[in-house]
Amino acid sequence: MFEVLPQLPADPILGLSTAFKADTNPAKIDLGVGVYKDENGRTPILNSVIKAQQILLQKEDSKTYITPQGVQGFIDGMLQLLLGNSHPALLADRISAVQAPGGCGALRILAELIKRSNGETTVWVSDPTWANHIPLIGNAGLKIETYPYFDKAAAGINFEGMISALKQVKKGDVVLLHACCHNPTGADLTNEQWQQVLEAAKEREFIPFVDIAYLGFGDGLEEDSYGLRLLCENLPEVLVAASCSKNFGLYRERVGLAAIVTQSADQRKIVQSQIQAIARGIYSMPPSYGGALVDIILHDDALKAEWQNEVSEMRTRMQSLRALLVSKLQEKGASKDFSFINEQKGMFSFLCISPEQVIKMRDDFSVYFVDSSRVNIAGISTENVDYLAEALVSVL
Ligand SMILES: Cc1ncc(COP(=O)(O)O)c(C=O)c1O
Repeated sequence: MFEVLPQLPADPILGLSTAFKADTNPAKIDLGVGVYKDENGRTPILNSVIKAQQILLQKEDSKTYITPQGVQGFIDGMLQLLLGNSHPALLADRISAVQAPGGCGALRILAELIKRSNGETTVWVSDPTWANHIPLIGNAGLKIETYPYFDKAAAGINFEGMISALKQVKKGDVVLLHACCHNPTGADLTNEQWQQVLEAAKEREFIPFVDIAYLGFGDGLEEDSYGLRLLCENLPEVLVAASCSKNFGLYRERVGLAAIVTQSADQRKIVQSQIQAIARGIYSMPPSYGGALVDIILHDDALKAEWQNEVSEMRTRMQSLRALLVSKLQEKGASKDFSFINEQKGMFSFLCISPEQVIKMRDDFSVYFVDSSRVNIAGISTENVDYLAEALVSVL
């Protein structure tokens, strides 16, 4: 049966990790895989999560099945975190939601929901976007098109190109937007630009599909949800995929949320039944453990404050690493102005160097990152930044 299947090439990012592990250069640096790392290169368990685990150990008294929608306290806590306590869509009972296996699971459930609603829908994604958006949405059978987003030559957003493309989108099509900390570029919309996206959505009647995987890593937990809240407050329908992998450090526990702002409380019930059926038909129910931890943290004032501090520490560390890299590059005489790195948000930056230069960084200096020139800022440390800056200056 399986002899008809071709061997697929290795995943480029995972292939990079394998090559990094095999590299014997003691100065090697891994800026590839998108996980947060501390100054020692570790991805620690957050203290708030450790405490929540202890609480859960005491209080959990059964491992029986949960329902396809997941842990209800997690869903309620996440909706409040994402939208605020008094968001009109929440108050009007217009939001359907399920806990999902990670942000990826949420993206897939929502893609299946779009497919069930209208299989002819085109989903518009930014050029570039996170590579996994394509199979997660495309494998549901939906057509994907791109809108311009990033201008590599100018190292910034091509907003004019983006907004004029969005003004051509067909009524009923779906537009995928990164709420904050755009992956892979780190270039985010300003509040004013979000306002223009809202106007385009109203004018063209497209449905925004907001992916929020780095809440708190950009400017702050409230600030990073500005665009999401604006769209959810002013449009009848919005799809939202959230991930707790990065900001709660719960990567392997697979915790995410799929939420849909619907037109009315009656529609909410219908859509809720649909997303639960979709979940039932793919994996039945989400793993409960990570969701239960987030539920504990978000409903305990002291733990929530501790978690907020931990998110803020991760964010400020990445911001200071950006500043450090920019100043080291200047200090070492880089022939290119890298100050745009300071403007970018979150865990990733596009260095805007050529694929040949990226390969040279890998082959000649053992500095590993993907060909697009996306680097994981959290992989930089005060120890390796000089070496990194010297390597970059020399390949330029
Ligand atoms: C833009 C974006 N969306 C969604 C995800 C999904 O993350 P996960 O499935 O690990 O929660 C990621 C993870 O890297 C991401 O970068």
